[in-house]
Amino acid sequence: MNARVAESMRFGPLVVSFDARVLRPRPWTVAQSTWAAELVANAPEGDLLELCAGVGQIGLVLASLVPRDLVLVDADPNACHHARGNAAAAGLSARVDVRNGPMHEVLAPDERFAFILADPPWVRSDDVARFPADPLAAIDGGSDGLDLARLCVDLIGRHLTRGGAAILQLGDAEQVADMGSYLDSNPEIGLSVDEVRTPTGDGVLVGLARRP
Ligand SMILES: C[S@@+](CC[C@H](N)C(=O)[O-])C[C@H]1O[C@@H](n2cnc3c(N)ncnc32)[C@H](O)[C@@H]1O
Repeated sequence: MNARVAESMRFGPLVVSFDARVLRPRPWTVAQSTWAAELVANAPEGDLLELCAGVGQIGLVLASLVPRDLVLVDADPNACHHARGNAAAAGLSARVDVRNGPMHEVLAPDERFAFILADPPWVRSDDVARFPADPLAAIDGGSDGLDLARLCVDLIGRHLTRGGAAILQLGDAEQVADMGSYLDSNPEIGLSVDEVRTPTGDGVLVGLARRP
């Protein structure tokens, strides 16, 4: 099959487009959008950010539920092309800014966000062969699966408004424990694990809050 042929699927209230060159949206991750909407209700004023957004479906569902502007970031130009199309199809283009590039290069140092989603690649390098249909750059998180997740929390620490919150997607309980240890041993990041949810699916959702 031609990998460039666009497919579409329902994701929560939206219909989103993607192709075989990007990670196929996983229906369970809509739980990340709905949990985020609950937390945004108590977040300070300010915009939303999604790191490693892929075709943007998780952040776009959140933006469809809460009236705030959204920045979507992904390193893959094709994923960003779909994300722009998905924002347009959802009627959200005026509120959504899609930025293509490595996440540590596309945010201005003084930008702050009230709520941040992050869905980094989290498969351990030794395990990527178990997912032959998925693009390597979308799933390979390095030896412990946390290389990109650590980059995400470093950025969240720098760009989250005081009083804001974040939800990070990881693969399993061992990674959650390792991330908690990383945050505890790097208090200058200013974040801690606040709550962990395990919806039915292949990953874990980690709520992050500012350290008191
Ligand atoms: C696990 S996928 C998540 C995609 C989408 N959020 C989802 O859940 O379907 C990870 C995404 O991170 C992107 N990515 C990997 N390294 C990145 C980096 N350094 N900066 C920005 N995006 C990156 C990949 O292109 C891929 O789209």
